[in-house]
Amino acid sequence: MSNIESLSLEHRSFPPSESVVKQARISGMADYHQLCTKAAEDYKGFWANLARQHLFWHKPFTRTLDETHAPFYTWFDDGELNASVNCLDKHMGTPVQNKTAIIFEADDGKVTHITYQQLLERVCQFANALKAHGVHQGDRVIIYMPMSIEGVIAMQACARIGAIHSVVFAGFSANALHERMVDTEAVAVITASHQHRGGKILPLKTIVDEALSLGHCDAVQHVFVYQRSETPCPLTPKRDKTFADILANQPNTCEPVIVNAEHPLFILYTSGSTGKPKGIQHATAGFLLWAKLTMDWVFDMRPEDIFWCTADIGWITGHTYIAYGPLAAGATQVIFEGTPSYPHAGRFWEMIERHRCSIFYTAPTAIRSLIKASEAHPEVHPAHYDLSSLRLLGSVGEPINPEAWMWYYQHVGGKRCPIVDTFWQTETGGAVISPLPGATPLVPGSCTLPLPGILASIVDETGHTVPHGTGGMLVFEKPWPALARTIWRNPERYQLAYFPASLGGHRYLAGDSAVRRPDNGYFCMIGRMDDVLNVSGHRLGTMEIESALVALTELVAEAAVVACPDPLTGEAICAFVVLKGAYPSDHEAKQIAVRLREGVTQNIGAIAKPKYIYFGESLPKTRSGKIMRRLLRNIAKGESITQDTSTLENPDILAQFDRVY
Ligand code: WT7
Repeated sequence: MSNIESLSLEHRSFPPSESVVKQARISGMADYHQLCTKAAEDYKGFWANLARQHLFWHKPFTRTLDETHAPFYTWFDDGELNASVNCLDKHMGTPVQNKTAIIFEADDGKVTHITYQQLLERVCQFANALKAHGVHQGDRVIIYMPMSIEGVIAMQACARIGAIHSVVFAGFSANALHERMVDTEAVAVITASHQHRGGKILPLKTIVDEALSLGHCDAVQHVFVYQRSETPCPLTPKRDKTFADILANQPNTCEPVIVNAEHPLFILYTSGSTGKPKGIQHATAGFLLWAKLTMDWVFDMRPEDIFWCTADIGWITGHTYIAYGPLAAGATQVIFEGTPSYPHAGRFWEMIERHRCSIFYTAPTAIRSLIKASEAHPEVHPAHYDLSSLRLLGSVGEPINPEAWMWYYQHVGGKRCPIVDTFWQTETGGAVISPLPGATPLVPGSCTLPLPGILASIVDETGHTVPHGTGGMLVFEKPWPALARTIWRNPERYQLAYFPASLGGHRYLAGDSAVRRPDNGYFCMIGRMDDVLNVSGHRLGTMEIESALVALTELVAEAAVVACPDPLTGEAICAFVVLKGAYPSDHEAKQIAVRLREGVTQNIGAIAKPKYIYFGESLPKTRSGKIMRRLLRNIAKGESITQDTSTLENPDILAQFDRVY
């Protein structure tokens, strides 16, 4: 007697409808299992076939996977190709040539279309301009751009000449930008005069100037500026040039630089538990293969689809599912400059209706904030928009709670669209654990099963697989082509962080804890096991925020940062701060909290601003001097302290944390 309606959400299963299964590339679970078996029986052959089928090689590879220097694996390493050829040139002479590649919608609603052929021409022009300014294969180029067609062109142009791009999210501060310019030793910065978001025009180029003025980035020869608005921005003679200047007279064809499969395509910085952000380095062929393949598998991309991924090109999702994947798949995609709530919280639904989007891929935080907005303003509820063009929904970046899943399923997807809850990371290059829309029965709150060729397990500290139903560490047993190759100029850290000797030294440790459901073996993500926070799907290190606080040397003596659950943003940042001066009065604390938030915004960016700040005369520490973070997490959650605090060096200070700012 199974009455599905009476089951709690987490136990309900939503199998794909017959019509969805019938049309899908991977059609039904038998198809899925068959692919998994193929990979298990001949791992190298499985990947070699896919790489031959989905990529265009100038020189075919003969070696598939080289494990000699594990965990520094290489793939297809005697093959040669070019990423931009695989995204653009390969479509010329096919029906895709004159198809719209990008539908760009600006913050103010202005819409621009560009076809594949036009995009190729503009990428070539830009690539020629980079070459004319001495940018060579292997050089690093920083891209600090708002969401725009020009941002994608800049990335593709780098790929065309074999330059390695490092995109920095345009919400990051001058300090954060500077850190990345120095670490990559970039020769050029590509930026925009301003960015338009939520009806505001914010200067961007001046942040680049500020970053450059911090010194130690003498390698930067050029700053290329996309003039986004009429408002002029300061240009330093010789060093700075506008796009209009550098593109004038550049031919619209450009011979691609053919690179080795392992040539770094890009470096993207992401937070770890310790130290500065890590420059995650991806290889050309492996990354591109997975970007293309997961477009086919996870999104089941079809020629008539209108694909919209709402991520920013400053994050990995924007690399894989905006700048590379959709183009490699020949898709038409929407790129949006603005924010989901401007001019009103119905903007996403309005855009889906206007552009007839069929696939919509966003983050749980966005969904939760739009649920909240539609409760307050019923006129922005998705029910008021024509969303009938949708056939598939996606979620990424953080766990999606079953209630948000259900709302997304019912009100956005009209109970007709599967939701692919895609688990992955900057390091994994693309989705690795995700439903297949035409095969996997969905369970709200679960990212379901690993994609074919991906071997995921959950293990304990000794490396043994735990039984289903028991939580443990998520590991990947074998490398796959899109796994990051190293941390830029820091292979030791790569090996140490991701391939711990305690787990055998060859398994990739994701840093997340997870559990498999006893009934079907589905994976459910629990959260990070390290000191990495996930705020609105943005990854931040507690250490980075602590450093930003302590950098306010005149104010702060010591700081500790922990996460607390937040109904909207998933996690929220809570900072515990010891001031240099006396313990503050209520009035002083309010003022200081403002200065601390400003400081963090300047040092990292507004996304890292603590939501809650507590002040104490010291931090709770053990007698050996270790900060008791567990205790801080209890306080942040508003839980009463039931544990033994007798080992605390200074138990009295706990009482001070009853005030929060
Ligand atoms: C961390 C990676 C995936 C691209 C964007 C984020 C969390 C990501 C999910 C999901 C539960 C998820 C993990 C992961 N995460 N997707 N579907 N369900 N958690 O990439 O910035 O490198 O962050 O995001 O904790 O480790 P990232």
